[in-house]
Amino acid sequence: MKLTDIPRISLGFLPTPLEDLKRIGAELGIELTLKRDDFTGFGGGGNKVRKLEYLMADALDRGAKVLITTGGHQSNHARMTAAAARKFGMKPVLVLRGNRPDVMQGNLLLDHLLGAEIDFLDPDAYFAEINPRMQQHADAASARGETPYVIPLGGASALGAMGYVAAVKELSEQYGEAGRPAPEFIVAPVGSGGTLAGLLIGCAMFWPRTKVIGIAVSASAVPFSERIAAMADAGAELLGFDARFDPADVAIETGYVGEAYAVPSAEGNAAIGRLARSEGLFLDPVYTGKAMAGLIDCVERGRIAPGRRVLFVHCGGSPALFPHAELLTRDRAD
Ligand SMILES: Cc1ncc(COP(=O)(O)O)c(C=O)c1O
Repeated sequence: MKLTDIPRISLGFLPTPLEDLKRIGAELGIELTLKRDDFTGFGGGGNKVRKLEYLMADALDRGAKVLITTGGHQSNHARMTAAAARKFGMKPVLVLRGNRPDVMQGNLLLDHLLGAEIDFLDPDAYFAEINPRMQQHADAASARGETPYVIPLGGASALGAMGYVAAVKELSEQYGEAGRPAPEFIVAPVGSGGTLAGLLIGCAMFWPRTKVIGIAVSASAVPFSERIAAMADAGAELLGFDARFDPADVAIETGYVGEAYAVPSAEGNAAIGRLARSEGLFLDPVYTGKAMAGLIDCVERGRIAPGRRVLFVHCGGSPALFPHAELLTRDRAD
C-alpha cells in the first residue's frame, strides 16, 4: 500500500514549521534546525498527534466508542489520545504508571479536564499489569456494548509509525521548496520507539543519505535497536516498501537517561535552561531536554562532526515542566 492509501484523519496543524537555531548552532559549531512538532497543535500538541492521525482512522473504522491507552504519570501520549477520543465522541480511559497525586498538575491536569477515566497503577506493578489492566477496561466496555480500541504504550506500532514516515515526506518537501540540502543527521528522543521507527522508514524512502540518531530517555528491557528495527520492518511491509532494517544500523545513544525515565537529569535540565536562554525555546524534562543534552554531547565528543546540518525533532512535552517547577528553579537565585 502507498503511504497516501493508508487511511488517515486530519488532526494536526501541518506542516509544522522549521526553525533555525542560529545562536546555539554557532555555539556548537553545527547548522542546527528544529522541526517544531511541539506545534502539531491538537490536544496541546506534540509528536503523538502524527501517530494518532493513523490510529484514530483505524479506531473510527472499527466503530470504537472507548479509547484505552497507557503511559507514565505525565504521559503526553495519553493526554493527546484522550483529546482525540473526545474529538470523535469516544470515552478516554488512561492506565497511568504512578499513584494518584494530591494535586493534578501538567498533563494530568489536562487529562482531568478532558474527563478521562484515569486508572493509576502502582509503579512497581506497572509493567506486569498494563496489558491485563487495559484488557480489563476493554472487556468492561465490550460488556456494556461499547466497542473498545486499545492503543499500545506510546502508540508504538507499525501503523502509528506511519505518522513519522509522513513527517519525513513533509520535511523533504519543506526542504525542497526552500532549496535547502537535506540534513546529514536527524536527532530525536526515543521513548516507546515509534517515532524513530517512522523516521527510519521515512529517511530510507525520502532522504536516504540522512542518518537518524535516537537518544534514549529510558532503559529498555528489550534492546531498543532490536525493537525499533522490528517495528520499522513491519511498517515497511505495510507500505510494500522493499527495505529491511538491521538492528546494528539503528543508532541509539543510551547514555543520557539519567537516573530513570521521567526523572529529570542534571544534563537535561541544563539543556532546558540553555535553550530557553539562548533561543527563547522550551524543551521538557522527560524527553526533549534529555535528547538535546545528548545532541550537545554528541557534537562535543565528535559523534556529530563540526559543520554538519542537524535537524532536531522537537516532540513537545512542555506541560511536564510544571510539575517539576521546584527542581527547575533551584539553580536560580533571582
Ligand atoms: C515529548 C515527547 N518526546 C518524545 C517521545 C518519544 O516518542 P516515542 O514514544 O515515539 O519514542 C514522546 C512520547 O510520548 C513524547 O511525549
